[in-house]
Amino acid sequence: MPKSFFATILFLLLTHALKAQNMHPYKNPDLSIQQRVDDLLARMTIEEKAGQLNQLNGGVLTGPQAATDPGQTGKLDLLRTGQVGSFLNVTGAEETGRVQKIAVEETRLGIPLLFGYDVIHGYKTIFPIPLAEACSWDLAAAEKAAAIAAKEASAAGIHWTFAPMMDLSREPRWGRVMEGSGEDPWLSGQFSAARVRGFQGKLDDQHVLATVKHFAAYGAPEGGREYNTVDMSRYALWNYYLPPYEAAVRAGAAAVMNSFNIFDGIPASGNRFLVTDILKTRWSFQGFVVSDWASFGEMITHGYAADTANAVEKALMAGSDMDMESRVFQQKLASLVRSGQLPEARLNDAVGRVLYWKFKLGLFDDPYRYHNPTREKAALLADQHQQAAREAAANSMVLLKNEGAILPLGKNLKSILVVGNLAESQDEVLDFWKGQGEHRHTVTILAGLKNKYPEATIEFVRGYDKTNTFIAGDATVIRQKARNADVVVAVIGLHGELAGEARALADINPAKGQLELLNVVKSTGKPLAVVVQAGRPMVLTDVVKNVPAILYAWIGGTQHGNAVADILSGDVNPSAKTVMSFPYAVGQIPVYYNHYNTGRPHRDGNEGPNDFWVSRYRDIPNAPLFPFGYGMSYSSFAYSDLAVAKNSINQNDTLRVSVSITNTSERDGIEIAQLYIRDVAASRVRPVKELKAFERRLIPAGATQRVAFELPAQQLGFFDENGNWLLEPGAFRVFVGPNSRDVQEAGFVLK
Ligand code: NOJ
Repeated sequence: MPKSFFATILFLLLTHALKAQNMHPYKNPDLSIQQRVDDLLARMTIEEKAGQLNQLNGGVLTGPQAATDPGQTGKLDLLRTGQVGSFLNVTGAEETGRVQKIAVEETRLGIPLLFGYDVIHGYKTIFPIPLAEACSWDLAAAEKAAAIAAKEASAAGIHWTFAPMMDLSREPRWGRVMEGSGEDPWLSGQFSAARVRGFQGKLDDQHVLATVKHFAAYGAPEGGREYNTVDMSRYALWNYYLPPYEAAVRAGAAAVMNSFNIFDGIPASGNRFLVTDILKTRWSFQGFVVSDWASFGEMITHGYAADTANAVEKALMAGSDMDMESRVFQQKLASLVRSGQLPEARLNDAVGRVLYWKFKLGLFDDPYRYHNPTREKAALLADQHQQAAREAAANSMVLLKNEGAILPLGKNLKSILVVGNLAESQDEVLDFWKGQGEHRHTVTILAGLKNKYPEATIEFVRGYDKTNTFIAGDATVIRQKARNADVVVAVIGLHGELAGEARALADINPAKGQLELLNVVKSTGKPLAVVVQAGRPMVLTDVVKNVPAILYAWIGGTQHGNAVADILSGDVNPSAKTVMSFPYAVGQIPVYYNHYNTGRPHRDGNEGPNDFWVSRYRDIPNAPLFPFGYGMSYSSFAYSDLAVAKNSINQNDTLRVSVSITNTSERDGIEIAQLYIRDVAASRVRPVKELKAFERRLIPAGATQRVAFELPAQQLGFFDENGNWLLEPGAFRVFVGPNSRDVQEAGFVLK
């Protein structure tokens, strides 16, 4: 080895050591993150600290514009003086890089910015809405979708997504059910953790920080009306609403977002019980809590804070850390701390939490690692991303009805008539939260069918317009074109802009004009398959009575139309099962499977003399139109021989249950077998069924397979109203089946 080699190594080591000595410790990558945070905090003025907790909107509005909005130039001036710690809605490697340069080079301490963005179901390649994705019961696929979204977003300068949204909801009138994972707390928690793992990965530069939102109970607004009051028992909060958030926190989510609603009369942003007692203390959450858009300031409107200073105090002292777009921290936080009205220790804690994640992302060591336009170009809409989005969409679409095996259509069709405006419009299946997805990249159902059947004649008739008014003149055209068609595919549902935030609907029936269209098609006597596109369960009672086949396609994202065609043709065998009950009528909402029994329960169909003074509707059934967990396949499955390994188990045991499932068809198919339990008598009433396990299994045609479930007895408990976990001995029922209704039943005792 030449001497000069050792000399060079020595030289490099010495210069490294000297540099490390001269550099501020917070810039030294050899120190621990905590040491670096502490050093930096000690160098910051109170104003600079407050600045780190100020997040401003730098792009399109995703909430109301603040009255004090200083405009883009004004915001960059605030940045230069250390008054901004994060931007939301600034996107693109170049643009984020340009703004980051100002933070790094023009502020006193050069603290890099965090760029946050709503990457909810994709960044440029748009995946199915999260509600649909949950209907796949495919956790690995959800993790992969989040990882792809993170890959695209991180390549475009984004460090941090405001997802997963884990607001459990029983309210299809609420527009934001599209973002959630349905009505079951345990299953939602599984998806919650999977998405956090997907977004954050090992937090290299291909991943982004995740935010679980909206904390807490935002999914239960009265009457489903957006931003409305939430009023529930703590017993319901602990058992139904908190578990999905907790799962994300346990999976390591970096951030939590406050919700807009009140809980126990106190707005969530200023709710110490939620933010400090539960989240930060009980769950030991180490990340930071960001407000929802302007939610700190809105505590004044709620009537909980008297003025701006009071709102700052209530938010900070509740444990919330960062102010998104209220500007109340910007206006008052520093002066309140300087005057001693608020403790600097709480400010330091909040800032320390934010800085921790900036260090963790490596931004102090390389602030530009997320701003590389070449990487951006290669990542966005990559072929593998499109393929994954297509598979995810097909796996999320629920076959609700298939009378006479109308579906699949097979590959030999010569002529298809497609009707319904939604089938052709590119504007309907990305929103809401389409990120940077572009409508022009969307594959519509019409385009998907043309791709699938290049040799067939495919005709399209609009049938209803953008306002859902039936186009009377189209009736004759439909009758005429149907004559030559092998099949008619009719697409109905809700326009894309009717899903998402601020999109509550009082009526979720299909529009009259769409039903008129279906009647015309029916009158042709041709085989008919209806595809429903919507971001929530609709009331399909009339449609179900009238048509033989219904595929619920939700909002499938960029590859929506190809995925629908994959299923209609039979290239993909549907396997999804709904994670929200489909109501029979709007007046039946909320309707959900895991309800309590009441003292006077009613079973539809029981009409004896003792069925009068019971909990029921006189005009409609109690059961939903389609229950939780329901979905068909082109295969058919039969369940038999349910067995519980031991009739009685102790608290440290594992409950072992098995069942045989036979694929009684001639097609291989995926079945999602579900296990529910019921605690028969307990110190608090328990739901009639609670999902505890499932198995998503490919079962070959004609085969019988034994599916085994294992459930640690510890998971048979529940929370009391104070959040204590109770595991109570006694009798349990266990149910296994293809959905929450059609189950086999057995029992066991917990000792
Ligand atoms: C308001 C929404 O409630 C929230 O989910 C979103 O992350 C923010 N706006 C930012 O767009």
